[in-house]
Amino acid sequence: MAGKCNLASVLGGFLVLTLLHNLLNVSGQNIPAVALFTFGDSNFDAGNKQTLTKANVAQGFWPYGKSRDDPNGKFSDGFITPDFVAKFMGIPIPIPAALKPNVNVSRGASFAVADATLLGAPVESLTLNQQVRKFNQMKAENWNDDFIKKSVFMIYIGANDYLNFTKNNPNADASAQQAFVTSVTNKLKNDISLLYSSGASKFVIQTLAPLGCLPIVRQDYNTGMDQCHELLNNLAKQHNEKIGPMLNELARTPGFQFTVFDFYSVILRRTQRPSNYRFFVTNASCCGVGTHNAYGCGLPNVHSKLCEYQRSYLFFDGRHNTEKAQESFGHLLFGADPNVIQPMNVRELIVYPVDEPMSEVWLPTTSAMVQASDSSSSASRGYEFY
Ligand SMILES: *[C@@H]1O[C@H](CO)[C@@H](O)[C@H](O)[C@H]1NC(C)=O
Ligand SMILES: *[C@@H]1O[C@H](CO)[C@@H](O)[C@H](O)[C@H]1NC(C)=O
Ligand SMILES: *[C@@H]1O[C@H](CO)[C@@H](O)[C@H](O)[C@H]1NC(C)=O
Repeated sequence: MAGKCNLASVLGGFLVLTLLHNLLNVSGQNIPAVALFTFGDSNFDAGNKQTLTKANVAQGFWPYGKSRDDPNGKFSDGFITPDFVAKFMGIPIPIPAALKPNVNVSRGASFAVADATLLGAPVESLTLNQQVRKFNQMKAENWNDDFIKKSVFMIYIGANDYLNFTKNNPNADASAQQAFVTSVTNKLKNDISLLYSSGASKFVIQTLAPLGCLPIVRQDYNTGMDQCHELLNNLAKQHNEKIGPMLNELARTPGFQFTVFDFYSVILRRTQRPSNYRFFVTNASCCGVGTHNAYGCGLPNVHSKLCEYQRSYLFFDGRHNTEKAQESFGHLLFGADPNVIQPMNVRELIVYPVDEPMSEVWLPTTSAMVQASDSSSSASRGYEFY
């Protein structure tokens, strides 16, 4: 009898411990206290553009920041995706703009600047290469090697390169497109390698959105009500196809770990089936003027047209998402499965032991599955709601 009782209570205790352990994992309590560093363009800019230009940056003015009563240089009606990822990582303070004076960068910083590119010399902005150099300048004073190695480096860059390319080469043929994509992705690879030589080891790379479906692109290229600009979507697809294989190759160098967030599919799914994701409008912006309300949000000389309810829109201005959308991207980055982010999500990347080779590589399955769903009217696929 006594023996049985003991066995039952031991098993019971074990069950409770297992449950508790899972709960602690789920609520993120044992995520190590590391930093989040972001690089790229306006989507990740936490206010850097404001320090690089004497002009008034529209994002410093209402209705930017409207949902938080705080226009602070972020390209949204409120928080941006990295703010949510930082929150899920348990970082107690907002990730500051690295170029602003007297900011607390103890848990990371944003080096991203609006208008940033990989190639060329962007006006009043920084290329990714210059952003990485800025990180290197600030390194010795702020973060030690061990901390950098455990921290997360998130990158979203390239959209401005392709927007500039299509503006200057509206009739680029297949070989001109391929050559440009190769030069852009080679530069990206070099810059990621530079960051790796600076001590970074955990990389999160976000693929490019379907750029031809951005409201500002639909508006500028007069694509009409339902169409996207196919040249830009094709360039984004060609760019994205190179990302996973490139990172698989880099992951052969010791300690290099990464994951790829399939942002292209995330935006496309929301664009095609808004109501599945609780949006009403996905092809026009909430704030701005023009056929798709895509121009001039926040500019003093534009009488901004503002939508009634920003949470029903996927895009806040012509090329940036609403806070509601960005919060869902943060959730996907941190916790989604390999249909959306692979080979692991950000939470798994953070707890993955440093210096241990990755047990899985990136596989080209996601894009194949999404292409299948593009051409099918069936709405019955399991990953539908990501
Ligand atoms: C910076 O922020 C951290 C919290 O992440 C805090 O512990 C630290 O005291 C802050 N440093 C300064 C100088 O305010
Ligand atoms: C845009 O394209 C032009 C023509 O190719 C190039 O000279 C310029 O440097 C590019 N600008 C940026 C910011 O990449
Ligand atoms: C957006 O798409 C919907 C449904 O396809 C269409 O009815 C609407 O006219 C489009 N609006 C704009 C501004 O493109």
